[in-house]
Amino acid sequence: MAGAYETAFRRSLDEREAFWADAAAALHWYKTPMQILETDSTPAGRWFADGVTNTCFNALDRHVEAGRGEQAAMIYDSPVTNTIRSFTYRELRDTVAVFAGVLRSQGIGKGDRVIIYMPMIPETAVAMLACARIGAVHSVVFGGFASNELAVRIDDSGCKAVVAASCGIEPGRVVAYKPLLDGAIELAGHKPDVCIVFQRPECEATMIKGRDIDWREAMAGAEPVDCTPVSALDPLYILYTSGTTGQPKGVVRDNGGHMVALHWTMKNVYGVEPGEVFWAASDVGWVVGHSYIVYAPLLAGNTAILFEGKPVGTPDAGVYWRIIEQHKVAALFTAPTAFRAIRRDDPDANLLKGRDLSHFRTLFLAGERSDPDTLKWAEDVLSRPVIDHWWQTETGWPMCANCVGIELLPVKHGSPTRPVPGWDLRVVDDNNNEVPAGTIGALVVGTPLPPGAFPTLWNAHERYLDTYFTEFPGYYKTADAGYIDEDGYAYIMARTDDIINVAGHRLSTGAMEEVLAAHVDVAECAVIGVADQLKGQIPVGFLVLKAGVNRPHPEIESEVVALVRQRIGPVAAFKTAVVVERLPKTRSGKILRGTMQKVADRETWKMPATIDDPEIMAEIEAALKQAGYAGGAAAP
Ligand code: COA
Ligand code: AMP
Repeated sequence: MAGAYETAFRRSLDEREAFWADAAAALHWYKTPMQILETDSTPAGRWFADGVTNTCFNALDRHVEAGRGEQAAMIYDSPVTNTIRSFTYRELRDTVAVFAGVLRSQGIGKGDRVIIYMPMIPETAVAMLACARIGAVHSVVFGGFASNELAVRIDDSGCKAVVAASCGIEPGRVVAYKPLLDGAIELAGHKPDVCIVFQRPECEATMIKGRDIDWREAMAGAEPVDCTPVSALDPLYILYTSGTTGQPKGVVRDNGGHMVALHWTMKNVYGVEPGEVFWAASDVGWVVGHSYIVYAPLLAGNTAILFEGKPVGTPDAGVYWRIIEQHKVAALFTAPTAFRAIRRDDPDANLLKGRDLSHFRTLFLAGERSDPDTLKWAEDVLSRPVIDHWWQTETGWPMCANCVGIELLPVKHGSPTRPVPGWDLRVVDDNNNEVPAGTIGALVVGTPLPPGAFPTLWNAHERYLDTYFTEFPGYYKTADAGYIDEDGYAYIMARTDDIINVAGHRLSTGAMEEVLAAHVDVAECAVIGVADQLKGQIPVGFLVLKAGVNRPHPEIESEVVALVRQRIGPVAAFKTAVVVERLPKTRSGKILRGTMQKVADRETWKMPATIDDPEIMAEIEAALKQAGYAGGAAAP
């Protein structure tokens, strides 16, 4: 007899519409959708086309009306400012309603874009939900990005307003956001009408008269506003993510499908009930933060934790255990890199001893490959299931997971388990033919995709179709390679494009190469991601200088490091560049980045048959050794 997981999974594909119509019935609709799925306008499909709803109403007002008003909706825990503040559903709804009034008083309404450039403070969630309340489309930009990245997003979104905080707080330094914002607006071709600035005492921003307004003053003079009914298909947000060039991709999320899917996952994937405490230790600037710090836990009536700190150093590697105990967290979601950092600082988990984790049931890891060593350590110290799960900004919620709320399947280290209901995961070869179990190929998902997946890229529908739906007709291309074993467990091996994962942050080596190439002395360059014990991967750049440049190499190397920090931001963690005489290429001129990476990672590598000059690899190996990344031996 099929188990609960198998039954749910089969039904999600065989009776797609009934499955998601049932899930949609748990939420509030001004007009209940009758048309569940249409597949004419996009291969991903569009869900609940004739439904009318409001995501903010479902995340806040619905719970207040149902008697959950006095329950904590969000707990802000900030060791970097020594602050803990709790907001009930009623308080959060009321604050959001007033900030929605502020936005409206600035002429912002349905469909207008609002950039949110803020750190991990409650006002960020308030700004997001206020946009949702009036049907405006938010686009949160991660605080670790520099002016140039922010400018690209201002231009692409054509935002009417920017909501910003005066600063973010990183361990040991205050990051002033306002000068970065001013710089971005200067750089951008499109100018927002207004900037609403939340002043933090750690660093007060200088305001520009006529453009900037103060958050608190605006709130004091604003009237609360009600939710605006929107179509299920109306965009809720745009989240820019790395593409293969410096031009990021604006992943669009709609209102209806998104709220239905996220609400469904809280019970079924994460196994938490309304009223329980859920903590995603990520950042609102990433998709994990959108989905599992803000929207999903609130849609499901949980208490969400908003954590402003790091897994180590704020103040120590025991902060996760302190928060789990103090706020009675039922499930934690974080990136493996966080656990590698905790383990590095406290290998015997001494800081866990004596903590009461009796409410804590499950740890979820995602964002990068979970190395079995770290996963095993987490299992040992926690004595609870540790669930690796796999997803992407594009999908908005997990494609593969051990769905503990449906049925806990046996854990296999190195695998995020099986496809979550809704995701028809396959492995295909270059000719789009499915490969046998155990064979590595491209991980693709049969279309239509379930609700919540991205229906388009902002202002770039052709790019959406070309990037994701053309190479493997009938499928969504995840750009991850991997395999599925005989038991149906997926294994995610590597990206098939130039995306690397640095401390759980998705970055494009192509975008970094664009920055290096812009340096006046650089003729050619390549950036690869090399294995790093803490961050999973870190970028390393190779530079070939223009003929006649005879400045000292260390000078140029540190200039390009500074340039990446200035153009992309500190989050790129780009700290190493080396000058080489030439780059290894195929005879047709393609740089052999994959081989360079294998050398750097001490993996066995084979001299590519197509290489134009085999001697070069020895030079690359020597350069890597000089930079501290000794090469492995070439296979015979
Ligand atoms: N605003 C401004 N700067 C930021 C920032 C922000 N929101 N977030 C990070 N940065 C900066 C950091 O200060 C650091 O700058 P530095 O080069 O001056 O030191 C740089 O960007 C890299 O930051 P980070 O990747 O956080 O590395 P770290 O060395 O400071 O910390 C970890 C390492 C593992 C502790 C950290 O990466 C971490 O907590 N990861 C958790 C994973 C996570 O949240 N993933 C999100 C997806 S689930
Ligand atoms: P992002 O869009 O930032 O969420 O990054 C998505 C990418 O991160 C995926 O395409 C994978 O390459 C990687 N990733 C996310 N979760 C996992 C996981 N559990 N195992 C392996 N890789 C992962």
